[in-house]
Amino acid sequence: MEKQFSEMIKNRRSIRSFSGERIPDEIIQGILDLAAYAPSSWGGHPVEFIVIRDRKVMRELARCKQMGAGPLGYGDAAIVPIIDKRNLELWVEDAAVVSTYILLAAEYYGVAACWIHMKDRRGHTNMAEDDIRELLGIPHYYGILNAVSLGMPKKPNEPRELAAKIHYDQY
Ligand SMILES: Cc1cc2nc3c(=O)[nH]c(=O)nc-3n(C[C@H](O)[C@H](O)[C@H](O)COP(=O)(O)O)c2cc1C
Repeated sequence: MEKQFSEMIKNRRSIRSFSGERIPDEIIQGILDLAAYAPSSWGGHPVEFIVIRDRKVMRELARCKQMGAGPLGYGDAAIVPIIDKRNLELWVEDAAVVSTYILLAAEYYGVAACWIHMKDRRGHTNMAEDDIRELLGIPHYYGILNAVSLGMPKKPNEPRELAAKIHYDQY
């Protein structure tokens, strides 16, 4: 299932439907081992991960946000990156970079993944971050930007062509 770098980058998609097959624990560990190499502000590698495989907790996690969090509830696993944000001005950027690494590492291992945003989003009772903090027992000084839902894909991703607008030397 391991892929060439360019193929992996081009194939990665946000996938929200899964085959129901279990992701082996060692693959989840492999994804986290790669994500640990994400660059970080001040080089502190401050991100910690909460891995959720308990279906009941996953369903509750999906309910922590009003809209757009469904895959967290019906996927096979979820990862919540958390960062002790005391004295760490750039924690959002650090969480975003590490989450991107998770998405790419998941693609490398043939796992379907999707970023589910949490920061500044409404939950069912409070803000989504507050509900997650309560559900998972995360101390208040940790920042929560997002979660990543994971599952085995149902089918191969459709190829697509993407190109960014590029300006050389000046706008
Ligand atoms: C910052 C950010 C927030 C996102 N939030 C959600 C979300 O809350 N729920 C969701 O289903 N997808 C979410 N996504 C996934 C995007 O919808 C997806 O990346 C986009 O549609 C492009 O599709 P692609 O990832 O297949 O290229 C998010 C992606 C990013 C980068």
